Amino acid sequence: MILQRRNRILRQSPAIRSMVAETILQPADFIAPLFIDEGENIATEIASMPGYYRRSLDLTVKEVKELWSLGIKCVLIFIKCDDALKDNTGKEAWHKNGLMQRSIKAIKDAIPEIVVMTDVALDPYSSYGHDGIVKNGEIVNDETVEALIKMSNSHAAAGADFVAPSDMMDGRIGAIRNGLEEAGFTRTGIMSYSAKYASCFYGPFRDALDSAPGFGDKKTYQMDPANRLEAIKETLMDIEEGADIVMVKPAMAYLDIIREVKNAVEVPVSAYQVSGEYAMIKAAAKMGWLNEEKAMIESLTSIKRAGADLIASYFTKEAVRLINEK
Ligand code: PBG
Repeated sequence: MILQRRNRILRQSPAIRSMVAETILQPADFIAPLFIDEGENIATEIASMPGYYRRSLDLTVKEVKELWSLGIKCVLIFIKCDDALKDNTGKEAWHKNGLMQRSIKAIKDAIPEIVVMTDVALDPYSSYGHDGIVKNGEIVNDETVEALIKMSNSHAAAGADFVAPSDMMDGRIGAIRNGLEEAGFTRTGIMSYSAKYASCFYGPFRDALDSAPGFGDKKTYQMDPANRLEAIKETLMDIEEGADIVMVKPAMAYLDIIREVKNAVEVPVSAYQVSGEYAMIKAAAKMGWLNEEKAMIESLTSIKRAGADLIASYFTKEAVRLINEK
């Protein structure tokens, strides 16, 4: 055959392939989610997330130091709230000395340069396991937003670099931004979960924090997986209201949305490879059906290729170790 163009020329050796690779993962791409629990010297493996732990604060600080030493710049923290402290107002969420607030301080004290992001939503603190306040079986929007403002300000006061509202109430980004401004927190960023879908892939996370909804589902606030334009609308509104970074969540089943959002906006785009995505790869690897390392790197590369500037993933530490070895 005489061919004008042989595409395989650019694929013939590892050296050439690495020269023409369009997408390269680096440690600064990652956000490491962390689950924090009360107590001391406790690390509990999450049954549906093999290899992932909920740790007491002392062990969390140790873990964060390790993450930082690997080149990971950012952690996103979630706490498991004691059942006795849960109620329908979610008020433990803005307790000055709550586990979240203590965790932010302890992490920033240990490594001041690391970027601490905090989950802002009422579900871990709600006796109903919903992201908002419940009235007559409904998740009420405006009162929930008032609670989220208090929660965000308390995280900022404790030293959080970014608050990350994951609740999908209407108008919360603008309200949180105003709240931060009024309280003088002019350096606190907002990473908005702007296109967050009502997804079954959050199942293992809800095991980790014991935060599954007690009734119904989250479909009246999180987005319908059938929708694409709505993701753009939500994201553009959040940016107008003051979001510094936007997010698409989950990631792998929504790569088209990541790309469309990336093309539509001028702020950094993050994507969350959620608990169920992690669990699927871990489970298949455990069965010997997938090569775990390869599946991990391929999935993360595809998320970045789709347009994510930042990736929140439970594989962060393992992935960065592999990247650093190369
Ligand atoms: C809380 C929150 C959830 C996740 C992040 N923040 C759960 C939910 O919305 O039900 C999911 C993360 C994951 O599955 O890894 N609002």
